[in-house]
Amino acid sequence: MSRYAYVNGRYLPFPDAKVHVEDRGYQFADAVYEVCEVRAGQLVDERRHLDRLERSLKAIRLRLPMSRAALGVVLREVVARNRIRFGMVYLQIGRGVARRDLAFPVPAAAPSVVVTARPFNRARIDASAATGIAVVSVPDNRWGRVDIKSVGLLPNALARQTAIEQGAREAWFIDKSGAVTEGASANAWIVTADGKLVTRRADHTILGGITRGVLFEAVKAQGLTIEERPFTLEEAYAAREALITSATQSVMPVVRIDGRVIGNGKPGPLATALRREFHRFAEIG
Ligand code: PDD
Repeated sequence: MSRYAYVNGRYLPFPDAKVHVEDRGYQFADAVYEVCEVRAGQLVDERRHLDRLERSLKAIRLRLPMSRAALGVVLREVVARNRIRFGMVYLQIGRGVARRDLAFPVPAAAPSVVVTARPFNRARIDASAATGIAVVSVPDNRWGRVDIKSVGLLPNALARQTAIEQGAREAWFIDKSGAVTEGASANAWIVTADGKLVTRRADHTILGGITRGVLFEAVKAQGLTIEERPFTLEEAYAAREALITSATQSVMPVVRIDGRVIGNGKPGPLATALRREFHRFAEIG
C-alpha cells in the first residue's frame, strides 16, 4: 500500500517526502517530536502528547507553528491517508531551513513540520507481551535535558543497537550512581518484593512519558502504591517484576535484565493486568 507524509503544508507520496539538506533538524537535531499510538483508527492521548509537544517547543524556544486544532486535523489526515487502524503517528517540528550556523536564523525561518504514520505488527507486539522481553543495561551518556523530546537520539540508537546485538529488545540507561534512568525509547519500572511499583521521578533525567502518566491512574485504580524514586540495577535484578511503558508498546513486561531472570522469568501478574487495563485510562478519540 502506498504511504503518504505531510511535509510543510503538503500531503506527499513517500518517495517525494523530503526535507532540505540545510534543515536544522537534519544538521543539528534542532527539532522535537511526538509519537502517538493509533488504535482502531483513533489517536490515543492526543491532548497529553500535544501538551508535551508544547513543553518541548518552549524549551527549545520555538512556538507551535499552527493551532492545536489544525495540527489535530493533519495528524488525522495522515492516519486516514495511510489507512492506519493500529499503529503510530509521528510528528516532528524543527527550526527550519537556514545557512549552517549554530545561532538561530535571523529572521526566523519557517518551522519544518513533518507527519508520518505506520501500522504496527500487532501480532508481534502481543507475542512479545506474552513472553516478556529482555533488556540490557548501558551507561547513560546522554545530555542533561532528556526531558525535552528532541530528535537528537544518537545515544538511544547506539544503546538500542547494543541491546539487539546482545539478543535483547531494549536497553536501560544507568546513571553514575548505578540507578536506572529509563529505556532507549521507554520508561522503566519495577515491582518490589512487597508489591510496590517503582519508577523514577519525571525530572530532567528522563522523558516524562505519557504512557507513564496514564499508568499512574491505572495503578491507583487498582489500589496499588507507586513510589517515584530512582532504583538501582541491583534492585531491578532482585525485583518481583519489571516493565517498560511507551506509546508504541503501552505496558511491556520485562523478564530478563543483563541475562538475569526477573521473578519466575514470565510476565508478572501486575504487568499483565496493567497492560490489559491501560487503554481504559487513556483518552481515545
Ligand atoms: N518514545 N523515554 C524515552 C527516551 C522515549 O523515547 C519514550 C517514547 C518514552 C515513553 O514516552 P511515551 O510514553 O510518551 O511514549 C520514554 C517514543 C515512543 C519513540 O521515540 O518512538
